[in-house]
Amino acid sequence: MKPKLVVSKKANRKVVQDSQVTMVELVLPNDTNQLGALLGGKLMHWIDIAAAISAQRHSGKVCVTASVDEINFHHPIRLGEVVTLRASVNRAFHTSMEVGVQVTSENLLTGEKKTSNTAYLTFVALDSNGRPSEVFPIFPETNDEKRRFKEALLRRERRLQNRKPLSPKKGVR
Ligand SMILES: CC(C)(COP(=O)(O)OP(=O)(O)OC[C@H]1O[C@@H](n2cnc3c(N)ncnc32)[C@H](O)[C@@H]1OP(=O)(O)O)[C@@H](O)C(=O)NCCC(=O)NCCS
Repeated sequence: MKPKLVVSKKANRKVVQDSQVTMVELVLPNDTNQLGALLGGKLMHWIDIAAAISAQRHSGKVCVTASVDEINFHHPIRLGEVVTLRASVNRAFHTSMEVGVQVTSENLLTGEKKTSNTAYLTFVALDSNGRPSEVFPIFPETNDEKRRFKEALLRRERRLQNRKPLSPKKGVR
């Protein structure tokens, strides 16, 4: 039996809210380097998981990570801090979706909160034969959602440009 797609009851169409994911993690000793800071690879893993759930929540299909845009680490996240990842689909194209993930860290002892990263990932929905499969369009509602929707198209153009093979200039050694 085909899984049933969940469409927002509000307007019978897919909105950004439908794809929102909040994932909360506690930084434990096994997640850190020798300096007691969260390992970059661990954070990337959490980002990928939160984004994958968001893409699958939007599409109702199995999705794979096609690409991850550059991730910058602005602040170290320390042992014992709480990491909150908020993911949602910024824009759905044909078979792919851009998912944005915002990462914040919180020191529970001081109450200090920091925005550590924003990451953009592209997921592709697959059919039961593992081939790219069409996804619903998404309807941005708030001003922030509309801005992200517009910017997602520009980022997609840049990404697809980067997919093209590099051709070195003649005469350059
Ligand atoms: C991602 C994947 C399904 C794309 O397959 P493909 O045969 O290249 O498909 P197409 O060229 O038809 O592209 C399908 C969609 O993917 C998008 N896409 C493909 N590569 C991309 C990339 N590097 N960055 C952004 N989007 C990409 C295309 O733009 C297209 O989107 P659209 O339908 O919305 O226009 C395929 O490359 C794959 O399976 N990669 C491995 C994924 C994986 O193992 N991920 C890690 C584990 S989850």
